[in-house]
Amino acid sequence: MELNGKVAVVTGAASGIGRATCMALLKRGIEAVAAVDRSDAVVELARTAAGEFGREVVTPYVGDVTDVAFRQATFADLRRRFGCVQICVPAAGIVRDGLAVKIDKETGKSSLYPQEQFEQTLELNLTAATYWAMETVATVAEDRFARKVGRWEPNENVQGCIVFIGSVSSAGNRGQVSYAASKAALEAVTNTLAKETMYHGVRCAIIHPGFTDTPMLNAMERRYIEQNILPNTQLRRLLRPEEIADGICFLLQNSAISGSLWADAGWHPAA
Ligand SMILES: NC(=O)c1ccc[n+]([C@@H]2O[C@H](COP(=O)([O-])OP(=O)(O)OC[C@H]3O[C@@H](n4cnc5c(N)ncnc54)[C@H](O)[C@@H]3O)[C@@H](O)[C@H]2O)c1
Repeated sequence: MELNGKVAVVTGAASGIGRATCMALLKRGIEAVAAVDRSDAVVELARTAAGEFGREVVTPYVGDVTDVAFRQATFADLRRRFGCVQICVPAAGIVRDGLAVKIDKETGKSSLYPQEQFEQTLELNLTAATYWAMETVATVAEDRFARKVGRWEPNENVQGCIVFIGSVSSAGNRGQVSYAASKAALEAVTNTLAKETMYHGVRCAIIHPGFTDTPMLNAMERRYIEQNILPNTQLRRLLRPEEIADGICFLLQNSAISGSLWADAGWHPAA
């Protein structure tokens, strides 16, 4: 798929994989990127990108992606500026680690993983990611309707693509009951949207990154990474956000690919 002339919305764009994806898209010649994050570092990203590419290529949107009013206002602005947004990489995400059931060794009483955290993780990683993707598809669908074209035909260029960010944890990972659930569910969202959105010429895919050197991962203790993650990773190092961004661009640009891509550095955890 040609990136030339297309507009992308990337959430979680202030940091890590989202930020690297913005820069990778720009290097590959995309027309414009909407960089969305609750951190105003996206404003700085827009400035840096303008300096590097010599034009206003990044539009920053600062807000919480779980806020429906913010999402709708962002898309209203994007429609006004560009008409149609063809690409979405909803990368904003959080981890809220904790064992599913813990037993207090003194009292013998058990405690459950906090339901509030479970719901918070799903709200951001699953619900918000899905709705930002659906808003994107809606702009393409409306644009096609206005141009009086119905079902997408193979002799047209592919119109757009969504790439969700899953995780190796979607296959199950101790201490990540909420995170793993959110990422595994995105696989089902990808497969379902893919069946619907091709009507409008929009493909859907998901990348499952392994442990990637970003602020999210750096919240883990270095000792934990060295003892529990690197020994189970064939490359014996963390992935770089740019490597994941490269995989995302591959999924976006190569229309022959559907489904999921595991960019896991050979992650093989013990049972
Ligand atoms: N780092 C890894 O090892 C790893 C592995 C697999 C998958 N992932 C996934 O990749 C994606 C990006 O993660 P990252 O590692 O780059 O993390 P990161 O912490 O560097 O970036 C996440 C960004 O999301 C933003 N964000 C969080 N909550 C938000 C909200 N409610 N509204 C708007 N923005 C919000 C943060 O401000 C931050 O800029 C996430 O979906 C994560 O689950 C990361």
